Amino acid sequence: MRTIIEPFRIKSVEPIRCSTRAQRERALQRAHNNLFGLHAADVLLDLLTDSGTGAMSSEQWAAIMRGDETYAGAISFDRFQASVRSVTGFEHVIPTHQGRAAEHLLFGLLGGPGRVIPSNTHFDTTRANIESGGARALDLPCPQAAELHSDEPFKGNMDLEALERVLRSGASGVPLVMVTVTNNAGGGQPVSLANLRGVRALCDRFRVPLFLDACRFAENAWMVRSREPGQESRSPREIARSFFDLADGCTLSAKKDGLANIGGFVALRDALIADELRARLVLTEGFPTYGGLAGRDLEAIAVGLQEVLDPDYLEYRHASIRYVVERLRARGVPVVWPAGGHAVFLDARTFLAHLDPHEFPGQALALELYLEGGIRSCEIGSVMLGRNDPATGVLQPARHELVRLAIPRRTYTQSHMDYALEVIEAVWMRREAIPGVRISKAPAVLRHFRAEFERVPARAEAAR
Ligand code: F0G
Repeated sequence: MRTIIEPFRIKSVEPIRCSTRAQRERALQRAHNNLFGLHAADVLLDLLTDSGTGAMSSEQWAAIMRGDETYAGAISFDRFQASVRSVTGFEHVIPTHQGRAAEHLLFGLLGGPGRVIPSNTHFDTTRANIESGGARALDLPCPQAAELHSDEPFKGNMDLEALERVLRSGASGVPLVMVTVTNNAGGGQPVSLANLRGVRALCDRFRVPLFLDACRFAENAWMVRSREPGQESRSPREIARSFFDLADGCTLSAKKDGLANIGGFVALRDALIADELRARLVLTEGFPTYGGLAGRDLEAIAVGLQEVLDPDYLEYRHASIRYVVERLRARGVPVVWPAGGHAVFLDARTFLAHLDPHEFPGQALALELYLEGGIRSCEIGSVMLGRNDPATGVLQPARHELVRLAIPRRTYTQSHMDYALEVIEAVWMRREAIPGVRISKAPAVLRHFRAEFERVPARAEAAR
């Protein structure tokens, strides 16, 4: 059959509250035009993030009832560890309450002043954890990553030549190389196995360990299977394992491809580093057999890590995102291409071509999607990644102005995607009248979470 169905039946439902435009206008006012300030009840389709927002399976709920809440030596930890080992092959498994805690632990030990940690693109919490310890987080995306609309299948790849230059000039200051699969900040784009082999070869040559930020390892494996020559007949499990086999360890937020609502871990081969990490774990997360999680959370992750590699699930998962991306592209709406693994990324700079970066087209578009249809998305542009020059206050814009519509796992159905398409198209039809925004109040760091905005009339309108 040509129709790819959601490969599950629904056993428990959660109502969505529909709202009117007038209600949404009031809600947005209360939130000072910041979508992070909205109350969940005022959101119709919540595409803010795919992290921790997925639906668990009946097997996961059943496993939750088996949660062993023993402080030390819990049986749930054994099941968690066995599941992580079977997927990754890493001997040492250290649970944490979520991905950023794993990053904090790892870079607390291996980072520090004078160190440089290269990546294809660090996620913002990874960057923050590296930098807060005094090390430098260095993004080395492949040049094709900058071309939002080209057909290049692996825009998540690392720039191997740039990595070689960095390692040649000072490998002793590089405690590890990190590769993020998929590359979230770069559009959910995959990393190819060939590229990771190239990274591994450089790491071997310069004797530097390689770690994966493996949050979306299964989505990456699926895109490798469908896009990389020679991989089409391998299972997602085999492909994912090839990735882990090339690495010395990983951090992983189980809120994505762990199909859980909370949790994460560090896993690695080196016993000495693992021992040191466990010693630090006790200070902030907890005893090494629970690491900031309840036994029931460990159980949910143990099951989720296996379920996520089901080819039927991954086929549906990718199809639901491709469905939206392909239709938008066919109608001329500027969208990051090819479809990534967990989200639809609108190119707001092209979408709202009449706005300058200092009018924050990404934020302006995200606000319109909410007003039009109650969709909550997330700006990944100059609000989140732009910087104001400390001397002049002038905005140094981000490289791209994107709006991310992240699709929670197993949560929405095709009719929700059709609704999202209708909303985006309605906004597209009246794009020229959409006003820019101005930041009226902003905290010094991570301003996108708490900044306040005002909508300003478009220049054409103001001139009239
Ligand atoms: N690494 C990547 C690639 C991520 O996307 C995230 C989280 C993390 C690490 C941190 O994991 O949230 O469990 O602490 N990304 C979410 C998002 C927040 O919306 O993309 P965490």
